[in-house]
Amino acid sequence: MSGHENKYFKNYNCWIQENKIRFGNLSNQRVIPEFINSINRLIYKFEHKKIILDFSEVKQIYPFPVVPVSAYIQYFKENNDIEFEFSNMPKYLKNINFGNPKLPSKSSTNRYSNILDKIWTFNDGTEVNLLVNGIKNSIRKSIVCEKGILDAIDWGLNEVMDNVIQHSGINKGFVMSQVQKSSKNLNVCIFDYGHGIYNTLKNTQYKPKNAADAISLCVQEGVTRDKKIGQGNGLWGLYNMVTLNGGHLTIISGKGGLNFNQKDKEIYSYKDIILLNSKNQATNINFHLNLAKNISIKEALKGYELTDLFVESLENDYGQYIYKISEAASGTGTRQSAIAIKNEILNIQKQTQKPIALDFSNIGIISSSFADELIAKLIIDLGYYQFQNTFRLINMNPTIQSILHRSIGMRFADTFVNKI
Ligand SMILES: Nc1ncnc2c1ncn2[C@@H]1O[C@H](COP(=O)(O)OP(=O)(O)OP(=O)(O)O)[C@@H](O)[C@H]1O
Ligand SMILES: [Mg+2]
Repeated sequence: MSGHENKYFKNYNCWIQENKIRFGNLSNQRVIPEFINSINRLIYKFEHKKIILDFSEVKQIYPFPVVPVSAYIQYFKENNDIEFEFSNMPKYLKNINFGNPKLPSKSSTNRYSNILDKIWTFNDGTEVNLLVNGIKNSIRKSIVCEKGILDAIDWGLNEVMDNVIQHSGINKGFVMSQVQKSSKNLNVCIFDYGHGIYNTLKNTQYKPKNAADAISLCVQEGVTRDKKIGQGNGLWGLYNMVTLNGGHLTIISGKGGLNFNQKDKEIYSYKDIILLNSKNQATNINFHLNLAKNISIKEALKGYELTDLFVESLENDYGQYIYKISEAASGTGTRQSAIAIKNEILNIQKQTQKPIALDFSNIGIISSSFADELIAKLIIDLGYYQFQNTFRLINMNPTIQSILHRSIGMRFADTFVNKI
């Protein structure tokens, strides 16, 4: 117990005990500078090469500050050759890949996987693309979003991750997205321990006075460190989308940080949170969107609109949208699969505002619970008139037709007859 326990850190979010760093709280942002201080002491003062991280007292986790802490663990592994041992790590920290964020692959981010609630790392444009599509697909299956939201998510993820590749100087970033279904809130955190926003803008015509000033500049239209590389649209567009939605955008880099939650209003609320050293000032971007409130992308981007390639791929030569149930691949047997498909088709409908044909070709049979969850409940939720204006059922074999017929009958009886 004695050794070099750092009393100063006691009762804070993390503290030193022998060659151990103990975490008391992983939801307060102060855990980041405390972790950096603790680890620097163990490495430079006490010359430890093997450090134990103990999580026995950790309860809640949010993408921020969990992503930066996880990223700094990787930093010290790679740059100082530190070996970490994880002790008492709760299951949910293991599940998010806290100790070892993974690189995306085609198979781990395909249409059928759920890649939310995990920390991912990326090094290049191909990996950014896999993650953007994977995160968007996962959200599309898990919750119904208002019009414009999925486009804003696409823009935000692409632009912020691309900035890591273009401007951080280290080509390595970390990302985690979380959907809180009860509050219909999306929370995204993207972090890099590169040289930071102030360092990239300080020698430009904008001459920011300090880190907060640089952050305030980088969300303005046309502000870029180099006109030959960028156009200064990325963060400006995200800022507009988030503020139109009533969400919030927090940018922390180096010694400063700003929180934007409505247009032309910034709240200065962060100081020395994520800074590693003067060379690695680091950048953390966190945005929250209200998934139940639509965003006019046209208004956010001053007239410019976005196309969703996945949704576009469903359109045939006659401008009709065909959703092939056989390609949804989570199967036609379970309620869980039906809910994922239902979220997906409702999201496609919100985006296109056009009728969608649900194509049952190449499907031999569906379970009655699948039919109930996907179709019967949808008819009840939307009302018959709205349902038949929005969806068309095509290529259903007689077996599927009779299963569906029966489950609709039971659902209607349960909803209307049994209530009388
Ligand atoms: N992760 C980062 N690390 C360092 N600097 C950054 C980072 N992200 C943004 N910046 C700084 O903020 C500026 C504005 O970023 P923004 O995305 O708005 O425009 P851009 O990347 O320059 O151009 P565009 O996004 O239109 O291609 C960048 O030019 C860069 O100076
Ligand atoms: Mg950019």
